[in-house]
Amino acid sequence: MGRKSREIIKANVDDVIADLTKAYADEWLAHYQYWLAAKWIRGMDADTLRDILVGQSNDELGHAEKIANRIIQLGGTPIMDPGKLLQISGCGYKQPPGDPNNLKQVIQDVLDAETCAIETYNKLAEKYRTTDLVTHEMLEDLLEDEVDDEEQWEELGGIWKK
Ligand SMILES: [Fe+2]
Ligand SMILES: [Fe+2]
Repeated sequence: MGRKSREIIKANVDDVIADLTKAYADEWLAHYQYWLAAKWIRGMDADTLRDILVGQSNDELGHAEKIANRIIQLGGTPIMDPGKLLQISGCGYKQPPGDPNNLKQVIQDVLDAETCAIETYNKLAEKYRTTDLVTHEMLEDLLEDEVDDEEQWEELGGIWKK
C-alpha cells in the first residue's frame, strides 16, 4: 500500500486486519458448508435447492476473495493454514445434517450463517465508518449481499416447511 493510502487510514491497521481475517474465515467456511450441502442433499426438491446452494457458495468465495485482497493491500497475510479457519472464524461452521433428505435443516443452517454475517458486517461497517473508508465501503457491499441472501433463504424457509 502506498504512503498516502496508509496515511488516510485513521484506524489501527492491525485491528482492521484482525477483523477482516475473522470475516475471511467465515466466508471460506460458508463457501465450504454450502458447497458440501449442495453435493450431499437428496430427495424430491433437492435439485432446486442444489443450484441455489452452489450459486451462493460461489458468492461466498467471491467475498473471501475481496477480503483477502484488502488484507494483502493492508500489508496483512490471509490465513495460510486451513486448520486455523475454524479457530479464527466468528460465525463457525455447521456440518450438513446426517440425513441428506433433511432440507429444512440445511436451509436453517444457511440462514444462521447469513444472520451471523449480517451482524458481523453491520458491526464492522459501523466501526470503520470514518476511520478506514476503503474497508468501510467493502464491508457495506458485503453487508448488502448478505441482506439479499437472508431474504432469499427466508423465502426458501417458508416454502420448505416440512
Ligand atoms: Fe458472504
Ligand atoms: Fe451470504
